[in-house]
Amino acid sequence: MKNRIKSLEAFEEHTERYEEWFAKNRFAYLSELEGVKSLLPAGKGIEIGVGTGRFAAPLGIKFGIDPSLSMLKVARERKIKVIGGIGEYLPIIGNSFDYVLITTTLCFLKNVEKTLEEIKRILRKNGVLILAFIDRESFLGKVYQKKKEKNPFYKNANFYSANEVIKKLKKSGFAKPTINQTLFTLPENLQKIDDIKDSYGKGGFVILRMRKNREV
Ligand SMILES: C[S@@+](CC[C@H](N)C(=O)[O-])C[C@H]1O[C@@H](n2cnc3c(N)ncnc32)[C@H](O)[C@@H]1O
Repeated sequence: MKNRIKSLEAFEEHTERYEEWFAKNRFAYLSELEGVKSLLPAGKGIEIGVGTGRFAAPLGIKFGIDPSLSMLKVARERKIKVIGGIGEYLPIIGNSFDYVLITTTLCFLKNVEKTLEEIKRILRKNGVLILAFIDRESFLGKVYQKKKEKNPFYKNANFYSANEVIKKLKKSGFAKPTINQTLFTLPENLQKIDDIKDSYGKGGFVILRMRKNREV
């Protein structure tokens, strides 16, 4: 619990440093953005763990929720309708969104299962969840895992492998994902937007898209 609060403090205190990553690693950011775009559905969407709105804004997602007020301040400047809160207890009425996006936030959640329950509640019938994350078992995941102690943001993160995430999703009623991957090169070495390929295993950044099961 203490670790989770510490990771929150990092976003609160180092928002500017967080923003700098996108400028320094422009092609990695654009590759991730294209990866998410490749699986983004139409309709009314919300991003959970919206941060500074680096994904929501260019993807046309109007709503975002995050516990860090200093991250949300920047997201608001990017014209996102922001809500303070956490994924585990969404202050949102049921059946209100066509899709939910979570990108690079899974590793910071206190309780993934509770968050998935909440997502099911706020999604409309046949609503879609898009989940994008660094695969711990990929070459990049291994680099992040190795360097995490020295990084204020990732120090207290809990990285998951794609297999672990798929298992958790299935248990929570999000089965049969469509899967894409990107970031086949270290972010700092990329000279162009990276390829988007299907499946997972090679790319550092994995994107899953699945529908809420009809029976749930
Ligand atoms: C790495 S940032 C990702 C931000 C944004 N999605 C992006 O990709 O730029 C992780 C975000 O998750 C937020 N966060 C931490 N714990 C959370 C929780 N329990 N529920 C929702 N968001 C959380 C942090 O405040 C932070 O803004």
